[in-house]
Amino acid sequence: MANDMPDVYLNGRFLPLDQAQVSVLDRGFLFADGVYEVIPVYGGRMLRWSEHWRRLEASLAGIRMAPPLSMDELENALQRLIDGEHDQYVYLQITRGYAGKRDHALPAQYQPTVFAMCSPIVSFDRAAGIKAVVLDDIRWKLCHIKSIALLGNILLRQEAVDQGAAEAILARDGLVTEAAAANVFALLDGVLVTPPKGPELLPGITRDLILEIAQENGIAAREGDISLDVLRSAEEIWVTSSTREIVPVIELDGKPVGNGQAGAAWRRMDALYQDFKAKARRGQ
Ligand code: PDD
Repeated sequence: MANDMPDVYLNGRFLPLDQAQVSVLDRGFLFADGVYEVIPVYGGRMLRWSEHWRRLEASLAGIRMAPPLSMDELENALQRLIDGEHDQYVYLQITRGYAGKRDHALPAQYQPTVFAMCSPIVSFDRAAGIKAVVLDDIRWKLCHIKSIALLGNILLRQEAVDQGAAEAILARDGLVTEAAAANVFALLDGVLVTPPKGPELLPGITRDLILEIAQENGIAAREGDISLDVLRSAEEIWVTSSTREIVPVIELDGKPVGNGQAGAAWRRMDALYQDFKAKARRGQ
């Protein structure tokens, strides 16, 4: 980012990161009363901006908050933060902000906090795959809201790290929900399967894009429940998110997935996904 460019966005202002401050009475700080989005940016363009906006609107509705900015206002603000050169992502956080005092009940009046910053997307060797462990999904029952209350996700991810893995695949009542910070796909008898949307999981933008790419390219895919037993016999397992894209899981709970290497279905989908990104980068 050039020196004359603003660093972060906070409540209508563009200012250096070290000057961006919020009140200790901000309900985001006191209660994690807020939602967020992570939007990848290629060639200066936000990928699937309208889908991210729609999910943001749904998250805000889920916490009974009106959008503090219109879609256009927010897009203009975010676009001013973005530098066209590097792959990056926008982190956007909206909290119920300052309400004068600490009270669990929703305040009649408040000043929402809208914060956004850009960070580089760090590329890594996805083809090497990652190790994952299965953990009990201890989170709350409204996981479709992209809430900033992420302690459950954090503790689960750390438990995975403690066990020498990079990601936790979560299960509720014997069924896969998602991962600590990603959605999950499994290749079952040659068909790509991902759990259906519902309050148990975040409706991932990458997840939807993969289903769309599959459909356009005649790749068999469907939404359906994945039991843990079935997951353990999957030919391939992937975790997907805006920042890490599609990552093959090569080992689950210490046992190889498939032949213990990134599979052919992953290679094909990853290539199609990279094509999609390349076109998006060129504005196509
Ligand atoms: N997380 N599920 C959870 C719990 C997530 O945190 C994420 C992404 C996803 C994938 O959603 P998407 O494809 O829209 O990125 C699913 C972001 C990247 C994060 O918290 O940093």
